[in-house]
Amino acid sequence: MIYLDCAATSFQKPAAVAYAVSQAMRTLSSPGRGGYPSAMAAAELLLDCRLALADLFCVKDPERVVFTSSATHGLNIALRSLVGPGDPVVISGYEHNAVWRTLHGLSADVRVAASPLFAPEAAVEAFRAELPGAKAAVCTQVSNVFGYILPIREMATLCREAEVPLVVDASQGAGAVGLDFDGLGCTFAAMPGHKGLLGPQGTGVLLCRDEKAEPFFFGGTGSVSADPAMPDFLPDRLEPGTHNVPGIAGLLEGVKWLRRKTPAAVLSHEMELLAAFADVLEGEERVKLFRSPDPALQAGVLSLQMKDLDCEEAAARLAERGVAVRAGLHCAPLAHNTGGTQGEGTVRFSFSPFNTYREVMAAAETVKEILD
Ligand code: ALA
Repeated sequence: MIYLDCAATSFQKPAAVAYAVSQAMRTLSSPGRGGYPSAMAAAELLLDCRLALADLFCVKDPERVVFTSSATHGLNIALRSLVGPGDPVVISGYEHNAVWRTLHGLSADVRVAASPLFAPEAAVEAFRAELPGAKAAVCTQVSNVFGYILPIREMATLCREAEVPLVVDASQGAGAVGLDFDGLGCTFAAMPGHKGLLGPQGTGVLLCRDEKAEPFFFGGTGSVSADPAMPDFLPDRLEPGTHNVPGIAGLLEGVKWLRRKTPAAVLSHEMELLAAFADVLEGEERVKLFRSPDPALQAGVLSLQMKDLDCEEAAARLAERGVAVRAGLHCAPLAHNTGGTQGEGTVRFSFSPFNTYREVMAAAETVKEILD
């Protein structure tokens, strides 16, 4: 199989990830629940992973690195902490349902700062126009549908100037596009562990500036246990219940691999693969490619539509021929509304550091074969 659905989950991981998961199941128990060796080793593992993530995302205090079960979980914590019913919230036109539905569930007054694809100046202007009076703002770092790298730094500056807390959805960028959390001054950044960070599914990370973030779940933390309220310090405040220790062990190996390789090298590899793939199909009139005219604005995600062929059907035909991709709305209808692909959506090809030139060329030839 040629796996090009890394925007859903990275499937090929460093070998050390699965090994660490199985080792953790054999050797580690619950952190913070005892002073015996397997509990202490688990606590050490969590600290090591927080330190590695803090280093990768420029967070001075590793206690502000909170483990979650997914980016969605982290975004729920962030948005529930900042937003109440009727509060105006500005979001980019490329947000995922993890943001859109959560805000809908909170009965927020959602203001979509929509702007065309691959037009960062327009994105900044749209944000600037909507920000006055907003209670919070949310911007995805990279569109999970189009790979569009949004101008997060400029958005963060606008939010700081307007004193509006910013939540960054780093789900698609983490591991490839750099994120300087402290430097940006954003209030939260959420990401999954299982995409670009190369960890297992069921892991996620929330970077928090706000110590008083609202817990989404309540329960035991192994700290201040006599108090009926959740601890007022991080990370305990947001991490009730037993941690996903095997998942975090795998995540740590993914992050270690990334730090050695560097996100910049990953991004450059994925951009090269995207360019090679798109070059084969460029000029093919039966394909509509959603490719940035400026390659620096597109991370390793490319959407396309095929003439006279439904996207789901195209993906099924690719799967029959051994190419794994995702079709449809990618849980981001808003991004499709903004990109003009609402309705049937697109067929999405998304690349990882483990994909090869040979694989993407074969996938592009398979698209042509299907068209023929
Ligand atoms: N949000 C993930 C995707 O884009 C699951 O496929």
